Amino acid sequence: MKLETYQNIVNGELVHSGHSYQELANQYGTPLYIFDEASFRKRIESYTANFHSDLFETQVLFASKSLLTKAIAKIIAISPLGQDVVSAGEIFVGLAAGVKPDKMYFHGNNKSDEELVYALQNEVGTIVIDNRMEASRLEQIAEKLNKRPKVLLRINPGVEAHTHQYIQTASLDSKFGESIFDEQIFEFITQLHESQFLNFVGFHSHIGSQVFDRESFFKASLAMMEFAQTSQEKTKYRITEINFGGGFGVYYTKEDQPFEMAEFLPEFVQNIEKESVRLGLKLNKICIEPGRSLVNASGSTLYRIGDLKDTVSGKHYLFVDGGMSDNIRPALYQAQYEAAITNKITEPATIEYTVAGKACESGDKLIENITLPQAITGDLLLVNGTGAYNYTMASNYNRLARPAMIHIDGAHHRLTVKRETFEDMMKNELD
Ligand code: LLP
Repeated sequence: MKLETYQNIVNGELVHSGHSYQELANQYGTPLYIFDEASFRKRIESYTANFHSDLFETQVLFASKSLLTKAIAKIIAISPLGQDVVSAGEIFVGLAAGVKPDKMYFHGNNKSDEELVYALQNEVGTIVIDNRMEASRLEQIAEKLNKRPKVLLRINPGVEAHTHQYIQTASLDSKFGESIFDEQIFEFITQLHESQFLNFVGFHSHIGSQVFDRESFFKASLAMMEFAQTSQEKTKYRITEINFGGGFGVYYTKEDQPFEMAEFLPEFVQNIEKESVRLGLKLNKICIEPGRSLVNASGSTLYRIGDLKDTVSGKHYLFVDGGMSDNIRPALYQAQYEAAITNKITEPATIEYTVAGKACESGDKLIENITLPQAITGDLLLVNGTGAYNYTMASNYNRLARPAMIHIDGAHHRLTVKRETFEDMMKNELD
């Protein structure tokens, strides 16, 4: 397993900022989500410093669907980041933690009237409209509430991103946004510009997630800027803001070769500056909205190994005390992970195991074919790279309680999400 900067080996054991996983497991129980705050803050600083321009205001938004708890939102609240939200629930958590609503961008392809009312009443800064019906609903709501929200339109630039089909969002028949190839789109954009109740400023797009190809981002940004220019020509109204979305790929296993964000971002900004000058755009503001690449590497999940079983066909199963209920990604996207037995980190890896969870589902396998040292019941298995889309996609399938989460910040650690109890899982149920 590739170790993170906060992990090292002490006396034959893997530790996190000097904290023994054994002690963390004893104190907080397993499965346990562990989140490293210091590395997250470092990444926030690096993204903010590198996504910077002298020509326009820049804003990095945290795609909070990737990881959202009150404690995470509190870190966002005191950072320069804004928050990408996709539901009233995400707005609620952000507000509860002190995120400024004017730094929230509200996405989603089927925001309800109630959600739009909630967003406007709470002064959410930008509504990213997905489609024509939403635009007219939002106009009516804004008129009723006597508001004039700032609005972007999600467009679909039709740029292909090489990633898993389920997390690809800008193909021509995607459910998200309006296509730039739609003949009638400029009529719609003119209506947005001329709306009395909307302050329409520009466009948003997001081409997909876990994308490794730098070129896709350059191509999509160019397509958006060219579209902005065409829109200006066709409608005679100016475009002042573009949100380029997120989707930057991260390392899970050796198969993944992410590009270095600290190198990519300044080049990306320079290219936007250059192209916007060439195209005669006069943008005031540009945004990006990474989720996974901000949090994934700061998160890991600690499991206790239970039974081990060899099948007649020769497969060696290693069972852990969680699984698809805390990490659905292998079952949903064939996602791959690396793992280590923390108390045997220096022992030779000799056995090819299949790490399976405890859910009643054959597909509940966290890692197929991973070579590890000989394991015994009670050993601790740590899976790295679980910061994004694990906690936020967790479920209570089989009435498995969702794990606790702790944050580690150098010498200190604290509980940020309590382990669910059986009562928690029944609290909304009536006779
Ligand atoms: N902006 C928009 C509009 C998005 O839809 C997304 C992700 C992001 C930003 C952030 O993308 P990121 O930087 O995290 O790649 N559950 C899937 C990922 C779904 C992503 C959905 N949208 C997974 O576990 O891989």
